Order: sequence, then C-alpha cells, then structure tokens
Amino acid sequence: MPTEYHKYSFLGNEIILEVPLSTFLLAFVGALTLMTYASSLVRFLFAITAGKGVPLYRFKASKGTTYAIVTGCTSGIGLEFARQLAADGFGLILVGRRQSALDELARELESAHKIRALSVVADAADPKDLHAAVARVAAVARTVDTGILINNVGASHEMPVAFHETDPAEIDNIVQTNISWTLQLTRAIMPLLVVRSTPGYAPKSLVMTIGSLSGRIPSPLLAAYSCTKGGLKTWNQALAAEVQSKGVVCTMVFPAFVVSNMSKIRKPSLTVPTAEKFVKSTLGSIGAARGAQGRLYESTPYPAHAVMDYAVGLAGNASESLAVSVIHSMHKDIRKRALKKKERQLAAKTE
Ligand SMILES: NC(=O)c1ccc[n+]([C@@H]2O[C@H](COP(=O)([O-])OP(=O)(O)OC[C@H]3O[C@@H](n4cnc5c(N)ncnc54)[C@H](OP(=O)(O)O)[C@@H]3O)[C@@H](O)[C@H]2O)c1
Repeated sequence: MPTEYHKYSFLGNEIILEVPLSTFLLAFVGALTLMTYASSLVRFLFAITAGKGVPLYRFKASKGTTYAIVTGCTSGIGLEFARQLAADGFGLILVGRRQSALDELARELESAHKIRALSVVADAADPKDLHAAVARVAAVARTVDTGILINNVGASHEMPVAFHETDPAEIDNIVQTNISWTLQLTRAIMPLLVVRSTPGYAPKSLVMTIGSLSGRIPSPLLAAYSCTKGGLKTWNQALAAEVQSKGVVCTMVFPAFVVSNMSKIRKPSLTVPTAEKFVKSTLGSIGAARGAQGRLYESTPYPAHAVMDYAVGLAGNASESLAVSVIHSMHKDIRKRALKKKERQLAAKTE
C-alpha cells in the first residue's frame, strides 16, 4: 500500500509527516513522559544503591570530642542512634524519661566505646515541665561541643482509632511530644549549632528529625499522629532553608515500619528492618534523598521504605490516593487484631 503523507505548514515552512499531526504529537508526548519516568527511575536506583550523603566525621570538631543529643534514647530507634554514634566516637547527651534506663545506657556506652555519656531526665509529654526540661538539656549541651541533635522521641496512638473516637488525652500526648517538645528543644539548641559552624564552609552541625511515612502520606485512623509528623515535615523544610547557609544540615527522615515497642512488631522482614539496620542506613546517607526524590531536606533512607515512598509519588494524585486507601484498610485490620488481643488479655486477667 503506498504511504500516505500529511503536509502541514509551520512558520512558513512545509512539514511532511508519515502520520497525522495528532498521532505524531501523542507519540512525542508519550516518549517525553517515558523518558521523564526512566530518568527519575535511574536517579532513584542510583540514590538507593550509591547515595551516601554527608559523612558523619564532617560534624566532628577538629579537636576534642563532639557530642550528640539523642532524645527518646532508651529503646528502639533512639537507642540505636545512641549506640552507633558512640561507636563512631561521639560523646552523648542522652535524653529520656527514665533515670535508671539512662544510667544503665550511659554505663554501657562509656565502657564499650570509651566516650562520655551525660544524661538528662525529661518527660517530653509533660507540658508543665516543658520549658524547664528544655533548659536542663540546653544547660548540659552548653558545657560541651554539641554538634548533633537527633529529634527522635515520638508518641503515637495506642492502636489505630477514628479521630472522633480518640481519647483527648492521647491527642494531647501526641501533640505535646511530637510538636511542642521537638520545636522548643530545637529552638534552644540551634544557637549552639550555628555558632560552631562557619558560614559558607562545609556543614559542621546536624539536626535530624525522625518523621514517619505517616507524615508524608495521610494515614487514616492515625490522624493525630499523621498530623504531627506532617507538621514537622513543613517545619523542618522551613528551618532547613533558614540555617543551611549557616552551616547546619537539617534533615527529616521518613521511616515506614521498624521493629520496636512503638510498632509492636518483634520480627524483622524485608520491609520491616531492625532498629539497628534502619539507623545504619540513616547515618550512612545523611542528607541523601533516596526515596524522597525531589523533596528538599528530606530522606527515606532504608531501601525498602525508599521504594514505598518513591512508588507513592510515581503517579501523582492517583498513586497517593491509592496509598491512602491501602493504609486505611491496613489500619482497620491492625485495629481489629489489637482489639481482639485486648479482649483476650482482659479475659485472662479476670479468669
Ligand atoms: N517503629 C516504627 O515503626 C516507626 C515508624 C515511623 C516512625 N517512627 C518514629 O521513630 C521514633 C522512635 O520510635 P521507636 O519506634 O523507636 O519507639 P519506641 O521503641 O517506643 O521508643 C521510643 C523512645 O522514646 C521514649 N519516650 C517515649 N515517650 C517519651 C516521653 N514522653 N518522654 C521522654 N521519652 C519518651 C521511650 O522511652 P521509654 O523507654 O521510657 O519508653 C523510648 O526511649 C518516633 O519519633 C516514631 O514516631 C517509628
């Protein structure tokens, strides 16, 4: 069959196409879209396999010991941050609500890593003690070279629950711990971090805030928790832009599930790392976006979590709303199982 040619005029020039202009334009847009996705995928794969970020030693002073503050350090992710930073030679300012657990951890770190570990008792959920507790941490931080603040402490719901059925005291606990404490402590420590950095030179200080994928993807039945982590997300971005030129790296990390008391998951799996593995990949990729492609000052460091984060952003609104409904079903299921477990425990108690 003879080829049918289509003639068009563009800016006074004659253009001859083998296909109609509409088909040509459709193919052109399709190819462009495919190329955009392909290049984003290549960047993503590179980021999760080779994205190393800023090495930890950059935050150490050239002389003497640099200290890291870790909040909520007596279990889970915070405990691992304390252990891995101590193993790297940082002194520690341990912040937690249980004196005995802090003392025990300080002894463990000092004898295992020959560093000094100072501790401050503070209940991040206590509004009456907030400013005094923040002042206690800042007073200790001023006595040493404090270069790192790990905002790890966090509170969530006892189990997934509809927002209108949530105990008001639980909402207070979550907002106080995740927002008020984190903002006030960072406000108090930031001047120390700015002072030790030289504007225009390589970053010297670090503020790392542990968020959650619930702050990236709205999480039905964890609405208050999701709100606080989402709020921290914009706070971190605003803060990071303010202090970037002052030599302070501010980064927010977005984990999915990690084995811990909070997640109530005991066994690790492909998508649920131990706190040790999670923290190793976090400290090994400070400031590298990994799964948080294209988002400023954010990182989803653990590879399996990075894939989830990346996939949610892949098709814009369509993939985001699919993610919200998947999370909603998952939380309904978790709630059902948690209620059954509570019933069993109650029955066992009354027997
Ligand atoms: N695990 C996950 O699946 C997951 C997922 C996404 C985000 N995250 C985030 O990761 C961070 C750490 O969570 P995690 O899973 O490691 O939790 P975790 O194992 O329950 O540990 C929480 C730590 O914070 C301390 N803490 C809790 N409430 C406190 C308060 N009011 N005052 C002072 N200290 C308090 C706990 O102290 P005690 O030892 O005294 O209890 C403990 O040391 C949180 O910000 C959380 O939102 C966790």
